[in-house]
Amino acid sequence: MMSDLKNCCTSSRCYESGADMSQPIFSIRPATDEDISEIVKIENAVHLAPWTAEHVKAELEKPYSHVWIMTDDETDSKLAGYIVFWLFMGECQILNVAVDLPYRGLGYAKHMIRQAANLTAREGIQKITLEVRKSNQAAIALYQGMNFVITQIRKSFYSNGEDAYFMTLSLKDDELRF
Ligand SMILES: CC(C)(COP(=O)(O)OP(=O)(O)OC[C@H]1O[C@@H](n2cnc3c(N)ncnc32)[C@H](O)[C@@H]1OP(=O)(O)O)[C@@H](O)C(=O)NCCC(=O)NCCS
Repeated sequence: MMSDLKNCCTSSRCYESGADMSQPIFSIRPATDEDISEIVKIENAVHLAPWTAEHVKAELEKPYSHVWIMTDDETDSKLAGYIVFWLFMGECQILNVAVDLPYRGLGYAKHMIRQAANLTAREGIQKITLEVRKSNQAAIALYQGMNFVITQIRKSFYSNGEDAYFMTLSLKDDELRF
């Protein structure tokens, strides 16, 4: 799996237009227990209801859960972001995607989702789902830009009473178009 994930991502759209060699190269790899504390640091910085270390560890232990992180190739110590998704019961469900503030706007979230979608398609699964806060304009724009569509509004879904958009991406076309 590792070689599949070593898809250069240094700066905005590098995988489409060629790498900027002045920037560190970040690649995706599966997370391990040693990464939990750094993941939790980002969780606390970016989410209203952050996952705890126990929550992340539980995901690492589930056979159907994929926890992927983006770190720099040179030291493997700078964590830019991560994605957590399940391949379960014929569906891919994205549970979490986050990019730390200094690394935003570089295409990293899109890259991680694209790689998750590639694996999903290779497993013969044709549907990706996720929930997002109605107020989370950045995430909604990210997903809509990748052809996810809002298929349901879940009223008062979050603990603060906020509604969720339930979004779906169909991979039926065999070929990913984003
Ligand atoms: C949402 C998030 C993951 C985006 O990460 P990112 O790596 O900065 O996103 P990308 O650089 O891959 O952006 C891809 C697209 O998303 C959209 N997008 C990203 N950030 C945006 C913002 N602040 N405002 C509007 N659109 C935005 C854009 O359409 C962008 O495409 P473009 O660069 O061609 O305009 C990041 O802001 C984050 O971690 N937020 C906090 C955690 C979170 O809300 N996660 C989602 C939970 S459902």
